[in-house]
Amino acid sequence: MAGRIVVLTGAGISAESGVPTFRDADGLWEGHRVEDVATPEAYETSPSTVHRFYDARRQALGAVEPNAAHHALARLEEHLGDDLLVVTQNIDDLHERAGSRHVIHMHGELRKALCRACEGRFEWTGDLGDFPPCPGCQHSELRPDVVWFGEIPYEMDTIIEALADATAFVSIGTSGAVYPAAGFVQQARRFGADTLELNLVPSDGTPWFARARHGRAGELVPAWVDEVLAGRGLL
Ligand code: NAD
Ligand code: APR
Repeated sequence: MAGRIVVLTGAGISAESGVPTFRDADGLWEGHRVEDVATPEAYETSPSTVHRFYDARRQALGAVEPNAAHHALARLEEHLGDDLLVVTQNIDDLHERAGSRHVIHMHGELRKALCRACEGRFEWTGDLGDFPPCPGCQHSELRPDVVWFGEIPYEMDTIIEALADATAFVSIGTSGAVYPAAGFVQQARRFGADTLELNLVPSDGTPWFARARHGRAGELVPAWVDEVLAGRGLL
């Protein structure tokens, strides 16, 4: 028994699959203003602009594949079952495509649409910018099912309960710049968990972790999973 592990992932875990991160050089927030594409206000002002941004990202998902880091976490879940929970800030579906089943998308999912009229959620692989009717209520009020700045992330109660129960908290490929996810390490520590950061470079959160390893997720994550499965401890 390896214990109960909560893994938090961010854009960095999908970088080697070819999905751009947000805050790195040439990241998404270099080319777009958050205020123009990722807030409820932006959607009220110009839904077409917001749809163009997410439609392009949804289309791009069709051309990418999970990488060694996603596959390693799926392999860990095969062994740990319910003792592993992946909490991702990513709106891509690469964890699921690698085989992970126990995944919380706290910032929503690109391949889902949310109806502002009936509040239904629907699997969605096409575009939303042509304002298609909702499959549930027929109103043309579908938005991407993603959490924008100023909105409340999904499943926070479940996440906090899992942190309270965790023996280890591991953060992979996130800059630690966006709350509440950036605060999970401190919560996990307060609840008594051991903590490890795996990130390309030191992040805003590094000082909060008991230990940190810096390098590419595609190398660090499989190596860490091998260590856990070899029984060499959690972290
Ligand atoms: P914050 O990080 O303190 O909180 C953001 C909140 O919105 C959190 O609850 C978060 O989970 C949620 N959220 C909603 N949509 C999100 C999304 N797409 N990605 C991540 N989290 C999302 O930030 P804040 O106090 O809302 O932001 C302060 C200001 O900084 C805002 O004006 C914001 O636009 C700006 N900002 C800029 C950048 C950038 O990189 N340029 C990044 C973040 C925020
Ligand atoms: N391996 C590991 N880490 C990497 C790699 C890689 N190959 N490439 C980049 N990184 C690291 C970067 O060094 C950076 O610290 O991943 C981190 C990505 O940080 P951000 O771009 O800020 O992404 P993230 O932390 O997921 O952003 C949080 O902000 O705007 C919102 O909705 C967005 O969910 C996202 C949230």
